[in-house]
Formats: sequence, structure tokens, C-alpha cells
Amino acid sequence: MTILVTGGAGYIGSHAAVELLKSGYNIVIMDNLSNSNFESINRIRELTSKEFPFYKCDLLDRDELVTIFKNHDIEAVLHFAGLKAVGESVEIPLKYYHNNITGTINLCEIMAKHDVKKLVFSSSATVYGNPDRVPIDESFPVSATNPYGRTKLMVEEILRDLQVSDPTWKIALLRYFNPIGAHKSGRIGENPNGIPNNLMPYITQVAIGKREKLSVFGNDYETHDGTGVRDFIHVIDLVKGHLKALQYLDSNEGVETFNLGTGTGYSVLDLINTFSLVNKKEIPYQFMERRPGDISICYANPTKADKVLGWRAEKDLKEMCKDSWKWQTDNPNGYDKTTY
Ligand code: NAD
Ligand code: WQD
Repeated sequence: MTILVTGGAGYIGSHAAVELLKSGYNIVIMDNLSNSNFESINRIRELTSKEFPFYKCDLLDRDELVTIFKNHDIEAVLHFAGLKAVGESVEIPLKYYHNNITGTINLCEIMAKHDVKKLVFSSSATVYGNPDRVPIDESFPVSATNPYGRTKLMVEEILRDLQVSDPTWKIALLRYFNPIGAHKSGRIGENPNGIPNNLMPYITQVAIGKREKLSVFGNDYETHDGTGVRDFIHVIDLVKGHLKALQYLDSNEGVETFNLGTGTGYSVLDLINTFSLVNKKEIPYQFMERRPGDISICYANPTKADKVLGWRAEKDLKEMCKDSWKWQTDNPNGYDKTTY
């Protein structure tokens, strides 16, 4: 029995692949490498000393997907593949709807045809929109403020409809908060293309001298220091939640939603200061206007995942900062360009 990892060359998928292999699963990875590099596949093999098939394949290419299901005895799918840049999704919405929604529909149709009905989907805390209060639990109302967020909401709904139509489906919708950090080895990590959108990769690029200073978007939020508050979660904790979800689905039909967060909110300045402290690196920054679409405070109530899956995040902000910095310093230019 084998787990198919879609988007397994990407940031979270590559860490999940390592964790799956270390836990004794067989895996197949498929990825179109649109936002990743084949070198991450080499590094997964290096870190685990294990072999697995890799398909450079697009979710929009149904024939290729069928080939994967014909060639392998797939038992479940961890579905990470998707486009995730919020700003780009506003500029090119149809690309996002087509990739994230049509891609997922293709995947589910082909899974069903091959009688594979166990799916773990990468959703996002973005589906909570601008929440009334914190901490956020899974019963909070959902909404979206941009096309990327809407793709996550729509896919969640599509998967619920699918499960109603065929109750033998077993689906976990995992709503990630803000994943940062990297594998301890420094061999795999987040490898953004161009100017990073997210806070941590921006901080590490300033720290290494690739960017002059960080813009802190807003210091007039109603938070303890005026900057935005988020639930940063170590990517290793996050992927461990996926293994727990897989085990849960072994014996539970239905669709279940889980927040994957730590339950603690830290501000942008908290993150900058912790990073500086543990890595002994000053991060020059300047306060700027709020970034349009940003919310003030977002952190999880993660008790459902604890009670039902037996999962909770263990790594603290210091470890997240250390591991992100090791990845950046060991790979100043990310993955070297290897062609597939
Ligand atoms: P990532 O971009 O590093 O990884 C996604 C991978 O999917 C990439 O390797 C990309 O090449 C691949 N991909 C995209 N479209 C594809 C397609 N049509 N066919 C095949 N492969 C395709 O992103 P990530 O940070 O690892 O995120 C993984 C998932 O988690 C995404 O679905 C993302 O929306 C979701 N998520 C991420 C975050 C975050 O902050 N990183 C937060 C919440 C949810
Ligand atoms: C965090 C905080 C910024 C960059 C995004 C997506 C969300 C999810 C996770 C996928 C905010 C501030 C940032 C910078 C800054 N992704 N910031 N300077 O916005 O919480 O969530 O990634 O699902 O959908 O929206 O994460 O890392 O971009 O920002 O001051 O250069 O850091 O304003 O307060 P965000 P982020």
C-alpha cells in the first residue's frame, strides 16, 4: 500500500514525504514543479536513504494521473498540490480556480475510479476570513477575502458534497495556520520564487543580506505591540498532524475538519525579536502601511486535533527561528537549479 503525495516537491509536501518515509510508508510523489525544484526530490531521497517514484505531472493532465493510479497500489492521497500566492490569485483568478479546483476534481474522479477514497486535503486558516474573536475553532463561520481563499473554501465544499454522494469516502480537511521552520538537517525548506510574500522567508533573506530591510505592514493593530498576530507552527509539527490524520481515516468514514496550529499567537515584532535573539542577527525593519486584506489577529484553538487525532504542536518559536535560519544559511540561494 502506497501514499500518493501531490505537490510533494513543495515546501510542506517535501517535509511530509520525509516523515512518511521515516515512518515506514511507501510513497509516490507527483508535482508539476511549477513552484518547486527537482532538487527537493533528491534531498528527500538523501535524507531518508529511501527510493520512491516521482512523476513530473500536472493535476490538469488526467491521462498522466491515471497512469500513476494504474502503476501503483495507492491507498490514500495527501493532497498538497496547489497555487498559494494570495496577491497573484487576485491578479489571475481563473488560473487559481482552474489549477486548485479543476485539479482537485480531476484527482478525486480518478481516485474514485480506482477505488481510492482516503484523502487528506491542505486547507488553510484563510477560510476563517476576518474572525470576530480568537482563538478560532473549527465551528467558526467561514468566508474568504481573495480568490486563493475561495479555492480552499470551494474545495472544502466540493469534498463534502462528494462524501455525501458516496459515504465510503474518508476525508480530512486540515486548516493550516502559519507554517514556518524547516527540517533540522537544513537540507529541505521553503524556497520562494522571487520576492517572498510571507514573513519568515522575508526575514531570513534580510538576515542573509539578500534584502535590505523588512517592511512591517502596520503597527496600529489592536494587539499587544500594534503589529499583526499569527499562529506560527513548525512545518515538522504540521506534517506530523497529517500522519495522525491518515491513521484516523483508517477507521473513520466521513469528512472531518481540523485546525493545525499551536494555539498561541505571536506578533510580527515577537517573531523578529525571537529570530534576532536566537540567531544573533539584527533584522533592520521599518513600519509601513497595513497590507490590504490583512487581518489583525489569527490563532487557533487546536483542541479538536488533540482530542480526536492525539496531535498537538510541540516545537516553540525559538526552534522555528533556528531551523528557518539554518535552512537559509546552508542554502543561501535555495535549491540550486537542477533540471528534471
Ligand atoms: P508549495 O508551492 O511549496 O507546494 C505546492 C506544490 O504543488 C508545488 O511544488 C507546486 O509545484 C505543486 N503544484 C501546484 N499546482 C500543481 C498542479 N496543477 N499539478 C501538480 N503540482 C502542482 O506550497 P506549500 O507551502 O508547500 O503548500 C502546500 C499546500 O498547503 C498548498 O495547497 C497550500 O495552499 C496549502 N497551504 C499552505 C500554507 C503556507 O503558508 N505555506 C498555509 C495554508 C495552506
Ligand atoms: C504574517 C504577518 C503580515 C510579510 C498567508 C496567507 C494565508 C496562508 C499563510 C496559505 C502579517 C506581516 C508579512 C512582510 C510583514 N497561506 N508581514 N512584512 O498573511 O498570515 O497568511 O500565508 O494558505 O492564506 O494569506 O502570512 O507570512 O504573509 O504574514 O509585516 O514582508 O506578517 O502583515 O501580519 P498571512 P504572512
